[in-house]
Amino acid sequence: MRRVAVLGSGVVGETLADGFLKHGDAVTRGSRDPAKLAGWQAKAGANAATATFAGAAKAAEIVVLAVKGEAAEQAVDLAGRDALAGKVVIDTTNPIASAPPVNGVLRFFTTLDESLMERLQKRAPGARFVKAFSCVGAARMVDPQLPGGPPTMFICGNDDAAKQSVAEILRTFGWDVEDLGAAEAARAIEPLCILWCIPGFRRNSWTHALKLLR
Ligand SMILES: NC(=O)c1ccc[n+]([C@@H]2O[C@H](COP(=O)([O-])OP(=O)(O)OC[C@H]3O[C@@H](n4cnc5c(N)ncnc54)[C@H](OP(=O)(O)O)[C@@H]3O)[C@@H](O)[C@H]2O)c1
Repeated sequence: MRRVAVLGSGVVGETLADGFLKHGDAVTRGSRDPAKLAGWQAKAGANAATATFAGAAKAAEIVVLAVKGEAAEQAVDLAGRDALAGKVVIDTTNPIASAPPVNGVLRFFTTLDESLMERLQKRAPGARFVKAFSCVGAARMVDPQLPGGPPTMFICGNDDAAKQSVAEILRTFGWDVEDLGAAEAARAIEPLCILWCIPGFRRNSWTHALKLLR
């Protein structure tokens, strides 16, 4: 049984925490205020725990970062670069700016020359960041059932072994995996969130997923 820290009290944190529990892992969910996760812990069962970001990260083998994009660097600081060093960190975050979307097109606070994950990797150089789960809505993150078959999760990161581990997790969670290379590829993966959200904002359609066909 792996020990997974899921840093995030939002819908992504809950979905992925439940997904890891469902697939046999032990999960500690992190929040600045762990008390607010007591209800989740009570229903999640014996392999579920809650802690601060630092407490959750310290005890884990694998860390999932599922916090608001604007707070991601702060959350990495709170988890602690030493606690994250050497660990696989699955980065689900998107750099969504607080300004509203324009005609259904979200705005980012990053540029195409530097992704959020590259910023996080600089902030915690010893952590083995892998971008994943960022280009689909929470409702489809675990065991997506779609008529077109398994959708594609686009991943990237600087550590090949870390990407292998995350690819195995994704396959267990029902995904095809497309490894797009090093951390710079997050400059392309993160904006897939903008693309994915457009049918949602325009037609209230939020249950699709992306697939790479050859
Ligand atoms: N929602 C989706 O379907 C979806 C899909 C793909 C990717 N994503 C991305 O996944 C991430 C999580 O999304 P979400 O919708 O689950 O939750 P969210 O509302 O974007 O984020 C909630 C989390 O952010 C943390 N946070 C907020 N301000 C903070 C601060 N100043 N310092 C430290 N932590 C702070 C909160 O910490 P506390 O627990 O301490 O309050 C909480 O854990 C986001 O980056 C989002 O873009 C979302």
